[in-house]
Amino acid sequence: MPVVTIVNQKGGVGKTTVALGLAEAAAVRGRRVLVIDLDPQGNATSGLGVWDAPAGVELALDAGTPGSLQGVIRPSGWSLATGTIPDVVPSTPALASREVQLATDPVGAQDRLEAAVAGADHDLVLIDCPPSLGLLTVNGLFAAERALVVTAPSAWAADGVEQVLRTIDRVSDRHSGRPGTPSIVVNSLGRTRDGRYWYEEMASRYGDRVWPPIHQRAAIAEAAAQSVPLRGLGARSGAHEAVAEFDAVYEQLVATEGTWVTTPNASTSAGA
Ligand SMILES: Nc1ncnc2c1ncn2[C@@H]1O[C@H](COP(=O)(O)OP(=O)(O)O)[C@@H](O)[C@H]1O
Ligand SMILES: [Mg+2]
Repeated sequence: MPVVTIVNQKGGVGKTTVALGLAEAAAVRGRRVLVIDLDPQGNATSGLGVWDAPAGVELALDAGTPGSLQGVIRPSGWSLATGTIPDVVPSTPALASREVQLATDPVGAQDRLEAAVAGADHDLVLIDCPPSLGLLTVNGLFAAERALVVTAPSAWAADGVEQVLRTIDRVSDRHSGRPGTPSIVVNSLGRTRDGRYWYEEMASRYGDRVWPPIHQRAAIAEAAAQSVPLRGLGARSGAHEAVAEFDAVYEQLVATEGTWVTTPNASTSAGA
C-alpha cells in the first residue's frame, strides 16, 4: 500500500489541490484511495464533501497503534461516474491542539501516524499536510514511502523547496531511507514569463524529480469550493484540461512506484 505525503511549509501553494486531484485520478481508475487530512484547517475534508465528522485523525494520533485509523475512515461525499469513491480520515477542530500535546510525549511522537496507517488496506494513501514543518508534518513524513513537494513557480517558493527537502532528508536519514527521494510538482503555473522562468529553474535544479506541472485554472478553485471532483464540473471550461494534468501527475506516480525505497515490512505491491 503506497503512502504518499504531500508537503510544503508554505500555505496556498496547492498541497490540498494536488491531494484531491490525485485522489480523483486514482478513484476513477478503480483504485481504493484514502486521503488523510493532517491540516487543522480541514480543506481536504471539506473539499471531499465531509462536514461535522464526530472524530478524525486526532484519534488515530492519540492512539498511535496499528489499526487505530480504521475507526475514523469514512467515505467522501464525492460522486464519480466510474471507479470508486475516495475515503477520507477527516480533520476536525480537535486536531488544532494535538501538535502541542504530541510535543510533550517523552518517547517522541513522530511515528504515531505511521503506526496508525499500518492498519489501512487501501491501494493508495495520500496524506495532506498543514503549512508547517511541525510535528504533524513530521508524522506525515514518517508514515510515507514517498514525499511529494508541491510548490508555486516563484522566487519565494523556490527557497521554501530547499528547506522542505532538507527536512525530508533528515527524516529519511533517521528512518531507513523512508521517505525515498522526493518529487516536486509545480502548481498554479501561469502564462507569465516569470512563471515559466521559475518552472525551468526548478527543472534544471532538480531534473527528473520535477513532475509534470499543473497550470492555474479557475475550474480547479471552483471544484474545491463546491466540494466536487473536477469531473463533477461537467463541461466547465478548463476542467477537462485540469483533469488531464492531474492524470499526468498520477501516471508519473504510478510509473515511479516501483522505484520507491521500502523497508522489509512495507508493501508496495498494489497494482496500477
Ligand atoms: N492550479 C490552480 N489553479 C487555480 N486555483 C488553484 C490552483 N491550485 C490551487 N488553487 C487554489 O488556491 C488556493 C490554495 O490552494 P491549496 O491547495 O488549498 O493550497 P495549500 O493546501 O498548499 O494551502 C485554493 O483556493 C485552491 O483552490
Ligand atoms: Mg492545504
